[in-house]
Amino acid sequence: MSTASVPLPDERNQPEDHVPMAVEDVSALAQELGEFLLHYKFGLDEMLTKINILREELSFRGTGNPIEHVSSRLKSIESLRAKASRLGVSHELDEIGEQITDIAGVRIVCSFISDAYQVLDMLTTQSDITVRVIKDYIARPKPNGYRSLHAIVELPVFLSDDVRRVPIELQIRTVAMDFWASVEHKIYYKYDKDVPRELLVELEAAADVAHDLDERMAELHRTVHGAG
Ligand code: GTP
Ligand code: MG
Repeated sequence: MSTASVPLPDERNQPEDHVPMAVEDVSALAQELGEFLLHYKFGLDEMLTKINILREELSFRGTGNPIEHVSSRLKSIESLRAKASRLGVSHELDEIGEQITDIAGVRIVCSFISDAYQVLDMLTTQSDITVRVIKDYIARPKPNGYRSLHAIVELPVFLSDDVRRVPIELQIRTVAMDFWASVEHKIYYKYDKDVPRELLVELEAAADVAHDLDERMAELHRTVHGAG
């Protein structure tokens, strides 16, 4: 998206003969990087407004609110740099904007699986949103048991003299899936990504229990409210 040409600052050891950056270059870089991230922040703001409109409209209609809670985050410069290095992407902002699609992320947590699909559909069919990719990890969970709907969508951000299309990563999941993912995430980092086998087996079993809970709650809901 951005046409910025300045690379992301790199804190790795510089060569001995590295010439320190002039103050004005540093401030130009900060300006460009700030603007780059600001566009993603605007994209997030727009997406959050869309989600709030859905929430309010559905509550007003009295048809039940499918959204339990919403969180969002903008990737920090440190984690952007780390991801670029990991993916072998150059630290040019242009390249980063093209290759890294989760700079802006929104997580939507719903009560029921059907709500998660409904919310994905309500967002991705909006005419100003373009879908880049949808990955259905509810229908096809990851081998570790992870379930969620993932989508990379783009939406236009109208600036004073330009329109930018900003990619946003959406994660939509149930409360049970979210609980599992947050515990799994903590374990993964506690063991520095090298989780003992017995814990992996236990986590996979717990993911099945969480999915069973989702199905039972949906059944209860249908019994009380009917299939519609
Ligand atoms: P890939 O094709 O596998 O890259 O799928 P993807 O790009 O849809 O998902 P990716 O693995 O890149 O993960 C995107 C985000 O989803 C991560 O940053 C996490 O927030 C979340 N996520 C994906 N897999 C897991 C998982 O196994 N456990 C947890 N806790 N979160 C996950
Ligand atoms: Mg990925």
